[in-house]
Amino acid sequence: MTKRGFFEDLKFSLKFFSFTIHSEVNTLGFVMKLLFSEKEIQRRVSELAREISKDFSGREVLLIGILKGAFIFMADLARKMTTPVKMDFVRLASYGSGTHSSGRVELTKDVETSLRGKDVLIVEDIIDSGITLRYLSQRLKARKPCSLKVVALLDKPARREVNFQADYVGFQVEDHFVVGYGLDCDEKYRNLPGIYVLK
Ligand code: IMP
Ligand code: MG
Repeated sequence: MTKRGFFEDLKFSLKFFSFTIHSEVNTLGFVMKLLFSEKEIQRRVSELAREISKDFSGREVLLIGILKGAFIFMADLARKMTTPVKMDFVRLASYGSGTHSSGRVELTKDVETSLRGKDVLIVEDIIDSGITLRYLSQRLKARKPCSLKVVALLDKPARREVNFQADYVGFQVEDHFVVGYGLDCDEKYRNLPGIYVLK
C-alpha cells in the first residue's frame, strides 16, 4: 500500500470510529445510547436562555446552580442570557452512589450570598423524584427572595414521588438513567458533550 493510501484509510477509519462513539459508546460493559446530541442541547439551551432573559428583562438574576450535575448546563445557560446575572452554588446530596436514590437530602454547601429581595433562579440538571428541588425551594423561599424560579435541563415526570414542577424545562425524558453534559454515574461521564442513556 502507498503511503497516501494508508493515510486515506486511516482517515476513513477514524471518521467511522468517531461516528460510532458518538451514537453508541461501550465502556467496561456499559452500553450508552445517544439521547440528545451536543447540537440539540445547545439549541435548546439557547431557547431557554432567550425565554428566561425575556421573562426577567431589565432585572438582575441570581443563578443558583446545584452542584455538581448542573455546572455545565449553568455555564452554557449563563453565557447565553442577555440579562445581568450573578452566580452562586449549593451542593445537595440525594444520591448515595450508582443509580439509586437514598431518598434523603442534605445541604452540604450553602450559598454565599443573601437572597433577600433578589430574583433567584435555581439551575438543576434533572428532576427525578422531585425531593431535592422541593426541599431546596422551601429552604430558599424562607430567605425572602423577591422571586424564586427553577430551570431544569431534564425532567423525568414518571419518576415523581413528591409534587414538584419546574418553571422552565429543557427536555422531558422517559424513565431512563442518563449521563453526560454534567450528569454522572458514580462520578463518570460528566464530560460527555451529549446526553446518553445508560443501559
Ligand atoms: P431527585 O431528588 O430524585 O429529583 O433527584 C435529583 C438528583 O438526582 C439530580 O440532581 C441528579 O443529580 C440525580 N439524578 C436523577 N436522575 C438522574 C439520572 O438519570 N442521571 C444522573 N443523575 C440523576
Ligand atoms: Mg444533581
